[in-house]
Amino acid sequence: VLKEELERLKSIFYVSTRKLIEISEQFEKELQDGLDNYGSNISMNVTWVLGWPDGHECGNFLTTDLGGTNLRVCWIKLTERHGETNVIQQEYRLADELKTGESDALFDFIATSLGDFIEKHKLGGTKEDPLKLGFTFSYPAHQDYIDHGKLVTWTKGLEIKGVEGEDAAGLLRQAMAKRDLPIHLVALINDTTGAMIASAYNDPETIVGAIFGTGCNGAYMEDVGSIHKLKTDLPDDTPMAINCEYGAFDNAHNVLPRTEYDIQIDEESPKPGEQAFEKMSAGLYLGEIYRLVVVDLYEKGLIFKDQDASKMRNPYILDTGFLSGIENDTSPGMADTKRAFIEKLGFEATPEQLIFSQKLAEYIAVRGARLCTCGIAAICRKKGIKKGHVAADGSVANKHPNFKRRWANAMGEVLGWPVDRKEDPITITSAEDGSGIGAAVIAAMTLKREKEGQ
Ligand code: BG6
Ligand code: GLC
Repeated sequence: VLKEELERLKSIFYVSTRKLIEISEQFEKELQDGLDNYGSNISMNVTWVLGWPDGHECGNFLTTDLGGTNLRVCWIKLTERHGETNVIQQEYRLADELKTGESDALFDFIATSLGDFIEKHKLGGTKEDPLKLGFTFSYPAHQDYIDHGKLVTWTKGLEIKGVEGEDAAGLLRQAMAKRDLPIHLVALINDTTGAMIASAYNDPETIVGAIFGTGCNGAYMEDVGSIHKLKTDLPDDTPMAINCEYGAFDNAHNVLPRTEYDIQIDEESPKPGEQAFEKMSAGLYLGEIYRLVVVDLYEKGLIFKDQDASKMRNPYILDTGFLSGIENDTSPGMADTKRAFIEKLGFEATPEQLIFSQKLAEYIAVRGARLCTCGIAAICRKKGIKKGHVAADGSVANKHPNFKRRWANAMGEVLGWPVDRKEDPITITSAEDGSGIGAAVIAAMTLKREKEGQ
């Protein structure tokens, strides 16, 4: 019976080449719609990062990154492309209460961490000559200026009250002012934009910045004249980085092949109806999809009969690391997976169940990696980009050993690359520290523009 179930799961999680092409065509339309209109599904946020770095950006910068698990603070010394880039960094744990708490608690925590960091590392800074800060805020933000960003909606499971609709940069500024911190917030950036600019600082072949991590999103460079919704005096040929926010692709559920488990994840999430694409492809959700399948089969009496299922019922107990661990388990008798089951779920799996688990982990991860090509293929097609580097960061890209190969294969299918090609024209490269170096380079570019009076 388990074998039959496996066949069913294989087919519901399989996305054919034809389907991938259909998805990426629809993707292209939604990207365009986001450039044409405010309030579209994919918001195509303007970032006010006007062009590529020239590689000569220099200076000392403080950066901070509000990720899902940690707050990272860095001190970056930029000394030109290929030169030394000096980084001191520290992580501050974001307590669970903060993730569902009040706005003040969050921004006070960020300001206190910044204060602690500059004191510990004796970074100085005065009211007259404050330290320059690049703030990576990896959530959908509407920006009227580069040092401002109104949060549209929390994503990736965060639920902090009183921030949606508010300017996250302003809230941080207030919290820093309460402590008299000698810090000037120069730029608020998204992690995708950071990844793209950090890479472009050294690699002129960079075409896109992408995150395949807890969330899933991309950034690329557009001409101002093609951003029809934007009213500005900037010349039409001015390049402007766009943070697509394409995790929200197909929120209308027209084209993505959603399974009953995807529907359940969405309905039980804090934001039903949002981030449809992200919920099928990003790291936060892959383990949860797996858990929902397993619970379903348990309920039907098909797997783990007579086992204590209480742990298994905890939402989000399984992360992407658990899935990639199962998939890549080469230990005799899958001893590592057996141990992981005992640790995470509290019971021992039989050999048949272990094999089943491995297959299921593979189906879910393969689907995720294949879907992940659609947004980038759509950007490339839209811009006529035929080759280059996709600067990627995030736990799925970095820690799932099969992700890049699967992504490359699917990309070839969508873009019709010859099967016998010697090399892939568009490849994933590891983004240089986007929220550190990227934020610093963008802050440097911004200060230079300000100085030149632009
Ligand atoms: C980090 C970047 O390496 O990756 C962050 O510095 C980014 O800016 C993060 O948000 C994304 O990965 P994950 O897996 O933590 O969501
Ligand atoms: C979510 C966020 C987006 C971010 C992505 C990757 O999709 O909304 O801003 O870039 O996750 O971290």
